[in-house]
Amino acid sequence: MNAHDYSHLANVLRRRTGIVLPEKKASMIETRLAPVVRRFGFRDVGSLLRELHYGHEALVQAVIEAMTTNDSAFFRERRTMEEFRDIVLPKLMIERAASKQLRIWCAACAAGQEPYSIAMLLADAGLAEQGWAITLIATDINSQMIARAEQGLFTQLEVQRGLPIRRLAVHFTQEDDNWRISERLRRMVTFRTFNLLDSYGWLPDCDVVFCRNVLMYFDAKTRVSVLDRIGEILAPDGALLVGPAESHLGYELGYVAAESAPGLLYKNRPVPLRRRLAG
Ligand SMILES: C[S@@+](CC[C@H](N)C(=O)[O-])C[C@H]1O[C@@H](n2cnc3c(N)ncnc32)[C@H](O)[C@@H]1O
Repeated sequence: MNAHDYSHLANVLRRRTGIVLPEKKASMIETRLAPVVRRFGFRDVGSLLRELHYGHEALVQAVIEAMTTNDSAFFRERRTMEEFRDIVLPKLMIERAASKQLRIWCAACAAGQEPYSIAMLLADAGLAEQGWAITLIATDINSQMIARAEQGLFTQLEVQRGLPIRRLAVHFTQEDDNWRISERLRRMVTFRTFNLLDSYGWLPDCDVVFCRNVLMYFDAKTRVSVLDRIGEILAPDGALLVGPAESHLGYELGYVAAESAPGLLYKNRPVPLRRRLAG
């Protein structure tokens, strides 16, 4: 792979996704693009990258998806998830007692471990039984991840990462070597392919947004833009959950970190809810 092709790949990624390609990661690029090379019938990664200059959409999409880092785990960063369960959720249940409506957006959900973990906590709280209307939207730029998440099928290795055995027994059934999420939890989540750089106009105003372990891959401008726009759809008393390494990113944008858990942010000056178009 020559420097010209490398920098073109880096430009495409940054422009289309906000992701910054780390310097000198030729071997990582080769590994990630190998399936795309096979799928599109290229001789090698070099020929694929040369073709990328022509901007064929299907190829660009495939390259973008292959270059995303989709690592995730059930109940990732346990303390943040406990803070959601013990502080954020009970507070919202009091504040939203009249409307009994809760809207949660999981903004970079990978293969679904995060939204299904949230769904398990919501199921534990018995909200549906108490007549609450819950909207749980989970999105990711990677359509293959969304397809996997919709299937709700996880490998043995994936369920071993963070999922207590008790929850495995309650919420999953075994299918050969894999584990399928229960229909009840599956129905709680609405999945959709969505790029965080695109318009947020279709999203409802949200009480909680999970945007964890994705901002750290973005350039500074994209981080600001994403945090700013999340602020526009987040209720003034809503909570934003980011990765523990990402808390500091929200400071200048109207967020403050909760002392109790790394990754939990509240707005420190209420940003008005987005104005809705009439009708
Ligand atoms: C490391 S995973 C984090 C998954 C999960 N939030 C967690 O914390 O375990 C990052 C996810 O962000 C997604 N992603 C990267 N850039 C994105 C973008 N511009 N818009 C939406 N999702 C993006 C990737 O496809 C990937 O699934």
